[in-house]
Amino acid sequence: MADRRPILFFDSGVGGLSVLAPAAALLPQAPLVYVADSAGFPYGTRSEAEIAARVPALLGRLAERYDPRLIVIACNTASTIALQHVRAALDIPIVGTVPAIKPAAEASRTRVIGVLGTAATVRQPYVDDLAARFAADCVVLRHGSAELVEMAEAALGGDRPSVEEIRAALAGLTGQDRGEDIDVIVNACTHFPLLADELVAATGGRIHFVDGGPGIARRIAHLTQGQQWPDQPLPGRAVFTATSARTERLAPALARFGLREIESL
Ligand code: DGL
Repeated sequence: MADRRPILFFDSGVGGLSVLAPAAALLPQAPLVYVADSAGFPYGTRSEAEIAARVPALLGRLAERYDPRLIVIACNTASTIALQHVRAALDIPIVGTVPAIKPAAEASRTRVIGVLGTAATVRQPYVDDLAARFAADCVVLRHGSAELVEMAEAALGGDRPSVEEIRAALAGLTGQDRGEDIDVIVNACTHFPLLADELVAATGGRIHFVDGGPGIARRIAHLTQGQQWPDQPLPGRAVFTATSARTERLAPALARFGLREIESL
């Protein structure tokens, strides 16, 4: 029996597309719903209490409306703060996105790694715990950048940042004590892989960037193994909690990710 239930990806904005893309490549037959909480964007400058209250309530509404087989919280900020609350509230498998500190530590030769996320993510105990478990012998430098989040949103709408702008935003990390020794940076915000080309150009190819997208895709494939899919591929759907001129400009980029239907919640 064909099962039309989608996989639902959730982020504050367009960043979660960097998680959706490798999952869609691995599971081309999966129906996809991508939700951007544009009414709540940005999350990275919000308090823990706001995120912990907002995300489970919104995902509850979304689960009722779209009946997903699995939810991916494609946002490090929401995952490091609210993953446990969401799992407690919903009876659906929930996959979170947390900073890829383990592969970064495995890849580092200098033993100095950077964690580049939002201000809210980099101050989480969850990150302390990942660093202690997987990078105990590394210096782990952290930086939260709301500027890079904005640049990624604008880039998807066609307005790419300059290498100088990226370099200036990275200075908060690379300018720290031992920052010049960083050889691996964890993209601990799902928006940042959308700036991959600019990040490589701004660091002259000297720094390797890692993110959780490919690992999450494998996890989704594992959790949905043996499940049925629709007989014909269904068009992907992008959902915004608030629409604006900015969200309208995103339509061509969303179509490139297979999201051809756009609606507001
Ligand atoms: N994409 C989000 C993350 O992974 C957060 C961006 C924001 O809303 O500040 O943390």
